Amino acid sequence: MTSATLLAWIVLPYLAIAVFAVGHAWRWRHDQFGWTSLSTQLQERRLLMWGSPLFHYGTLAAIAGHVIGILIPASWTAAIGVSEATYHVFSAVAGTVAIVAIGIGLVILVYRRVAVRRVAVTTSRVDVAVYVLLIVIIGLGAAETIAVNLIGPGYDYRATVAIWFRGLFAADPHPELMATAPWLYQAHAISAWFLIALWPFSRLVHAWSYPVLYLGRPWIVYRGYRSAVRPRPSLTPTAPRR
Ligand code: HEM
Repeated sequence: MTSATLLAWIVLPYLAIAVFAVGHAWRWRHDQFGWTSLSTQLQERRLLMWGSPLFHYGTLAAIAGHVIGILIPASWTAAIGVSEATYHVFSAVAGTVAIVAIGIGLVILVYRRVAVRRVAVTTSRVDVAVYVLLIVIIGLGAAETIAVNLIGPGYDYRATVAIWFRGLFAADPHPELMATAPWLYQAHAISAWFLIALWPFSRLVHAWSYPVLYLGRPWIVYRGYRSAVRPRPSLTPTAPRR
């Protein structure tokens, strides 16, 4: 095994996982008030209203795709009767739908960050690094899904990338499998490790604070500003008669 293979497919992944874990513990202990998405909804809402849901729902679909295609072994899907050909069509079509939503969402969000001055001035260096990595990772993912799998010859990443990835968590990595994968898949995975290492130091930590408990908490009644300053006549208490 060459030292480049060792570095790219064993050292980098384990280093990124370690930084991810220790970084989150450090951020939680030292910066709980900064543990937020640092939302800019107050600065601009029209573009955000379109860009954010497209990006986030598309990303959820892509995460589901990674679980099915990478975490679940091909032998399991075969055992329930899903052939490689069926999986290929499913992943290419569903992946393309996800990437279209993510792509449009990302373009809107990046345009908003650059073109809307009130949003641009809130953008930190870490934000810029996150956006650059997202553009690279998502661009490469789009090329894999559309250029290779949807309209191209296809590539069975479940026989290489997926086995290497699962092996990392089973302390049985197979770097030689990644070393033979096409460069698109290699570059996608390498840039993903950089994003994973940067994650705890960025606004991406908001992903772990989804307000799930909101679903079960008591209702909070909000009143509109107008009704607060001009109470409806029917609700206005009548003055006591003298
Ligand atoms: C080391 C970790 C990762 C590995 C091994 C990996 C692997 C892959 C593979 C093999 C594909 C092609 C799927 C197909 O053609 O059907 C893909 C697609 C994609 N990946 Fe990743 N990926 C990783 C991390 C990430 C991360 C962190 C992101 C997001 C920031 C991401 C976003 C995408 C997107 C948007 C696509 C295209 C849509 C889709 O097919 O789901 N990936 N990835």
